Amino acid sequence: MTDTLTRARVDLAADARVRADDRGHVFHSWSAQALIDPLPVAGGEGASFWDYAGNTYLDFSSQLVNLNLGHQHPDLVAAIRQQAGRLATIQPALANDVRGELARRISEVAPDGFTKVFFTNGGADANENAVRMARAVTGRRKVLAMYRSYHGNTTTAISLTGDPRRWANEPGDGSVAHFFGPYPYRSPFHSDSPEQETQRALEHLEQTIVLEGAQTIAAIIIETIVGTNGVLVPPPGYLAGVRELCDRYGIVYIADEVMVGFGRVGEWFAFQAFDVVPDLITFAKGVNSGYVPLGGVVIADRIAGHFDTVSFQGGLTYSGHPLACAAGVATFEVFERDGILERVRDLGVRVVEPRLREIARRHPSVGDVRGMGLFWAIELVRDAETREPLVPFNAAGADAAPVAAVAAACKKAGVWPFTHFNRVHVAPPLVIEEDDLVRGLDVIDAALHAADEYL
Ligand SMILES: Cc1ncc(COP(=O)(O)O)c(C=O)c1O
Repeated sequence: MTDTLTRARVDLAADARVRADDRGHVFHSWSAQALIDPLPVAGGEGASFWDYAGNTYLDFSSQLVNLNLGHQHPDLVAAIRQQAGRLATIQPALANDVRGELARRISEVAPDGFTKVFFTNGGADANENAVRMARAVTGRRKVLAMYRSYHGNTTTAISLTGDPRRWANEPGDGSVAHFFGPYPYRSPFHSDSPEQETQRALEHLEQTIVLEGAQTIAAIIIETIVGTNGVLVPPPGYLAGVRELCDRYGIVYIADEVMVGFGRVGEWFAFQAFDVVPDLITFAKGVNSGYVPLGGVVIADRIAGHFDTVSFQGGLTYSGHPLACAAGVATFEVFERDGILERVRDLGVRVVEPRLREIARRHPSVGDVRGMGLFWAIELVRDAETREPLVPFNAAGADAAPVAAVAAACKKAGVWPFTHFNRVHVAPPLVIEEDDLVRGLDVIDAALHAADEYL
């Protein structure tokens, strides 16, 4: 941390230059271009990054929840450097050592019976290709996905997405139907307990399957823990029930592990905490912390076998890019050497959960806290009894002011938060120092007074 602070220095000329090029020429994602003001970032290290104006931020959102091993991890940087010096790129139809090694290492931490990996450039195309595989093996077309979900920005992935980012992109892939997943705090099924939520959510899913026509459904795709749309941890038995329904109706179960895979909740894959095995596992982000774009699909042998003699109709120029894979192999070495999974489980149980429960008791605006490992949500409400959200669903502008005020207070105190609708998420790099984690939670605690004032 001391080193990080000393590296943050003021360079207002550089700040102005970066702003001018960005504002003049960079067209940003998901934004009205004239209404944004992107922060120029000068550098980063570990769990922190800094601007050109002398401010350092503790990165409590791991960028877009991808920076699992933090900024500028020396092992990942060295692996990319070394690979760049050896073979910077190679097309996917040829065999490559780091690509093969990473695929083997991923299959070794996946459940038994998953030996093959198809590499993509990120999460959306991982989901896109998983759906394509499911359609090819089942000969069916429809896919079921949750309303509260994000699966990416290609045509199929944005169609699978349940959240408002889909709306402007419709009609996309017309063969997607949405259903309600479990959400015990705001139960769509009026349930009183997690067990009842599981039972009713599964009844609803089965009815959806039957009414959509089981014989038309290729796949059900589920974020193991719904990420951006709420850190919704599935109640006991839900995922096992989904597995059972998929088996009963011959449907492929795709686990979207893009945000929660590779250690975010203290497991290689989050579903491993829920005693369930899907058919296809999609990943990206944490596989190499996003140092070079990489994603992929881990394929159950039963499905991979289908393509032994039938050609898979899909591919990407940069599939299994050696620079990305080298960073992925280094990620495995760091995780194993530094006990990252154990560390995340420990910090979640010992530091984050008790502190967030205390925060919930202290702030009338906090309705619920939930999560696992280093992946948590603080849900803000106007009234703890009615659970009315502090800002409405999909709020923008003045309606979103209470959460914007919390975010601003966090940033002023040196913490870069992740906020979405009426929630503040806690998702720091998995390598964050314990005292920084404690400090960041203290900052969020203090910033929540800004939310309390709206009650
Ligand atoms: C659960 C989930 N799936 C898929 C994606 C899409 O990944 P990408 O942006 O790498 O295409 C995301 C991105 O945030 C995600 O959180």
